[in-house]
Amino acid sequence: MVPASCWKLMKRLKIGPERKLAAAQSELCRFVAEMMEKRGDGSVHMDEQQENRNVEIVSSYIDDPEYIDDHGKPSGFMYATLINYMFAGRDTVGTTLTWLFYNLIKHPHIMSSIRRELSPIAMHKANNSTTMVTFEPEETEPLVYVHAALFKSMRLYPPGPIERKTVMTDDVLPSGHKVRRGETILISLYSMGRMEGVWGKDCTEYRLERWVKEDGKLLYVSSYKFLAFNAGPRSCLGKHISVVQMKSIIAAIVWNFNFEMVAGYVVEPKPSVVLKMKNGLCAKILKRRIK
Ligand code: HEM
Repeated sequence: MVPASCWKLMKRLKIGPERKLAAAQSELCRFVAEMMEKRGDGSVHMDEQQENRNVEIVSSYIDDPEYIDDHGKPSGFMYATLINYMFAGRDTVGTTLTWLFYNLIKHPHIMSSIRRELSPIAMHKANNSTTMVTFEPEETEPLVYVHAALFKSMRLYPPGPIERKTVMTDDVLPSGHKVRRGETILISLYSMGRMEGVWGKDCTEYRLERWVKEDGKLLYVSSYKFLAFNAGPRSCLGKHISVVQMKSIIAAIVWNFNFEMVAGYVVEPKPSVVLKMKNGLCAKILKRRIK
């Protein structure tokens, strides 16, 4: 929100928040350099190393000449790309799950619907009433209640509460608003997820009806309406992987544990680049005995 001229000056003079940012950036670069070094130090068995290479992100870039500088070293662009992945994939998932569990604690009937959905998969996995059960991505992929509970929570508490765009050329938006080259457009996803005009009368309630059809199937909702992962050519590249990851985590936690909010604890959003929960979620988590 600070005018560009101000932060650029602070950056040049190495003062204020820009000084802190520069220190943080060099720490992140050190971490990324260490990650790249570890990847090639041969400390793991060859087969294992090969297997790891198939799944970790660094390898997709390290052999690409576009990410190597004139001296054959990883370029600044490589560092920026890997740091971007860390930002894109960590706090977004963490904050989404925090708000989701808050919503589930407040709506125990939705927690029960999820457990009913998980029951057929879990029952043939557990040997006794205390066994912890985990769920594979291919098992959670078709689960509609887990999906609906997740997306509904993300609509009310979008992890990235504001989308920022810069206008490339003078234009008129479909709404009739004129925009000029260089202007900034801020779209509040937080407000949009709570607008009656977009979502109807019960727009602020945590209800799953809008996502699950009467025949029990998931309803299609356009990504231009549900904007948490952005829409169009600059949509989130990690949408699928993060949904797969989050659905498996939700399934395991909801199946194995009961939750209770700590008495007197007040939940408040903390607006920032990521919509965090001020002071985190204070809840008691108890192992569930499955009858
Ligand atoms: C709950 C989880 C996540 C949410 C809500 C989310 C949301 C978003 C949003 C809104 C954008 C668009 C930003 C913009 O251009 O304005 C974006 C971009 C991106 N996301 Fe995610 N993200 C999530 C998880 C992930 C994960 C796990 C990864 C990687 C493993 C990832 C990788 C990316 C990348 C690379 C982009 C840039 C795409 C581009 O500019 O072309 N995201 N994400």
